[in-house]
Amino acid sequence: MSDIENIKQEIEQKIAGAEDIKTLEDIRVAALGKKGQVTEVLKTLGSLPMEERIALGKKVNTVKAELEQCLAAKKADLEKKLLDEKLKQEVVDVTLPCRPETQGRIHPVSKVYEEIVAIFAQMGFDVAEGPDIEDQFHNFNALNMPPNHPARQMQDTFYINNQPDKEFDMDAAYVVRTHTSGVQIRTMEKKRPPIRIIAPGRTYRSDYDATHTPMFHQFEGLVIDKHTTLADLKGCLYDFMKAFFEVDELPIRFRPSYFPFTEPSAEVDIGCLKTKTDLIIGAGTDWLEVLGCGMVHPNVLRAGGIDPDEYQGFAFGAGIDRLAMLKYGIPDLRTFFESDIRWIKHYGFLPLDFSSMTSGLSNNGGLAR
Ligand code: DAH
Repeated sequence: MSDIENIKQEIEQKIAGAEDIKTLEDIRVAALGKKGQVTEVLKTLGSLPMEERIALGKKVNTVKAELEQCLAAKKADLEKKLLDEKLKQEVVDVTLPCRPETQGRIHPVSKVYEEIVAIFAQMGFDVAEGPDIEDQFHNFNALNMPPNHPARQMQDTFYINNQPDKEFDMDAAYVVRTHTSGVQIRTMEKKRPPIRIIAPGRTYRSDYDATHTPMFHQFEGLVIDKHTTLADLKGCLYDFMKAFFEVDELPIRFRPSYFPFTEPSAEVDIGCLKTKTDLIIGAGTDWLEVLGCGMVHPNVLRAGGIDPDEYQGFAFGAGIDRLAMLKYGIPDLRTFFESDIRWIKHYGFLPLDFSSMTSGLSNNGGLAR
């Protein structure tokens, strides 16, 4: 076998064994490059006699062409392998189910909280806050409920022993606030009239059944100015109720009542239809109590450092959870705080459906549930 045949076979073996394009290129250069094995053979042609030169020249050119073909075929082969591997890695399984739905939901209490803030913010109210652990001055005394006032017994208060090293002293003890009304006093202490605030937050009473839990939520409203009247109170609450329940024609009545911190006081009822299975708000001849309110008692203004001969105002308070139950048809309050994922998936709201008076309050078509 001639030299060139040997060289050809040797190179063909190397080509067959190449595992990547870089190695293949090195083989090509070593064979056909300027100083390649085959090129070197060509360089020797000049020194050969004419006949041999022609014969070997032909032979080498054929070998060169064959090797080039062989290299090209191997290159195509390696490129295909590379592509197949890449496709395998980047494979998209079009039969997979689409992205899983968001698990988290906004709790109905948070939702109603936001709705209430949105409505009152548009009426120009600020949001005020007070502490959950409160002294008895702010929770009771300043609200015209001195010690031994019978109204204190109505509130099933949790007392906190804030002096653990001493014997428990009921009068000095702190409480977890039984209502948000104490924020009225805290606001008056900080701010001069005109005052227009709502104070949503947690409240606590020792009570537990389908409509009561030891921790629940309330919001308080307080408006104080020189000429604030009962008519302002009524207008404000009418507007709030209609906006909140998303019902244009909502029957509302003010029923005389008693709260120590307001005089006169009233409870607000909304018209509804109660059937055995349903509660429809805004229709029918039944009434449902939703809110307490009244004109701020002069003693309360005085306790907050405001002169009742110069200023007057109104206040109101309501349960956020209760409003959530009514608006979204949730029958048992205790389920609100059981952290059951199935419950929140059913009654909760999508995180991006935030409440605003312009883009929609509940994003839920109002009472449709
Ligand atoms: N604090 C009352 C309660 O917890 C609710 C309330 C009634 C608040 C009348 C008020 C009001 O501001 O004027 O039952």
